[in-house]
Amino acid sequence: MAVQINENYLLLKSSYIFAEIARRVEKYQNENPDANVIRMGIGDVTKPLPNAVVKEFHKAVDEMGQDSTFRGYGPEQGYEFLIEEIIKNDYLSRGIELDNGEVFISDGAKCDTGNIQEIFGLDNIIAVTDPVYPVYVESNIMAGRGGKMGEDGKYEGLVYLPCTEENNFVPELPETPVDLIYLCFPNNPTGTALTKEQMAKWVNYARENKAIILFDAAYESYIQEDNIPHSIYEIEGAKEVAIEFRSFSKNAGFTGTRCAYTVVPKGIMGYDKDGNHYPLNPLWNRRQTTKFNGVSYPVQMAAKAVYFEEGQKEIKENIDYYMKNAAIIRDSMKKLGLNVYGGVNSPYIWVKTPNNMDSWEFFDLLLNEVNVVGTPGVGFGPSGEGYFRITAFNTLENTKKAMEMISKLSF
Ligand code: MLT
Repeated sequence: MAVQINENYLLLKSSYIFAEIARRVEKYQNENPDANVIRMGIGDVTKPLPNAVVKEFHKAVDEMGQDSTFRGYGPEQGYEFLIEEIIKNDYLSRGIELDNGEVFISDGAKCDTGNIQEIFGLDNIIAVTDPVYPVYVESNIMAGRGGKMGEDGKYEGLVYLPCTEENNFVPELPETPVDLIYLCFPNNPTGTALTKEQMAKWVNYARENKAIILFDAAYESYIQEDNIPHSIYEIEGAKEVAIEFRSFSKNAGFTGTRCAYTVVPKGIMGYDKDGNHYPLNPLWNRRQTTKFNGVSYPVQMAAKAVYFEEGQKEIKENIDYYMKNAAIIRDSMKKLGLNVYGGVNSPYIWVKTPNNMDSWEFFDLLLNEVNVVGTPGVGFGPSGEGYFRITAFNTLENTKKAMEMISKLSF
């Protein structure tokens, strides 16, 4: 017999959304070598690493070159020196207690949100918001949980929770039972944030239905308003039902450096077919120790510096800088008469396309006419059709230029 492939891969769209955008932009750039294309598509940062981070990074690299301080394999779960800073600064400061064994350092929230499904059974019903960060959906399709994609762009085995203008991009509780719920707030791609009350509805649902929330908080540092929880564990009972994903990518510029972490509380349980309960923490630990050898020592030292006073100050300046871009984008789009969402507690601005243009049509128009790249909303799911995502992560100069160029278009 010839080697068999994992046929679930054939159920995926032909390419990952950001790979498809990169392909189209590269083609355009090759055909128009003089065009100065401004990229506001993938949420990649432009500000360099903070000085505090670079200093620790260098020091740690030097240590790796000395007999007396060289380190080989580190703990798969991450070094205690970083885990302790995370717990103290990101959780204890908000009244949340965690122990060191509940935090797992990794090389990205993308990997962790993609890998977490491995510790859950194949028969679980998965709920995702629509639109959604594609990794949650596609990692489940690869594993065989979603079935085929229908004409409507939805996988038949998944439960979609539409987030539209009508519900202010806040998902309603599912009408049919679900087991695993992926939530990302502040949201990628709509930029919406949930209040404490809105988040509590989900925690209560999960507690009542023995479901689990996979909570992606990669954008928490962009929260500006009060009454928006930075962690799902600010909600009572969440430690029984939620796994939280955080990242240094968007707050400290680690998109290329790679460092993130996942919190799996020790009290959170899953069940076997006979209804016996099992803690999930040892399962994730087992998965990580088998398949992952940890993040490099210099990168973890660099991440630790994020929590230094100097690091915190620099990070705040960078976030303020991106949020100023977000305000410029929001204002410019509003002046054009478009419906604009997000960009208040989030680096993403979600825009309704003009004249009922579809998302890819609007993408092509902006690329071809004014050399600005965004992300077509439909790339995040069927309810994203007719929307377009713009990121605030470019430079102030490029953001202003892109907005000037778009403003010249008449819709
Ligand atoms: C995005 O643009 O949605 C993000 O950059 C994707 C990611 O963080 O992997």
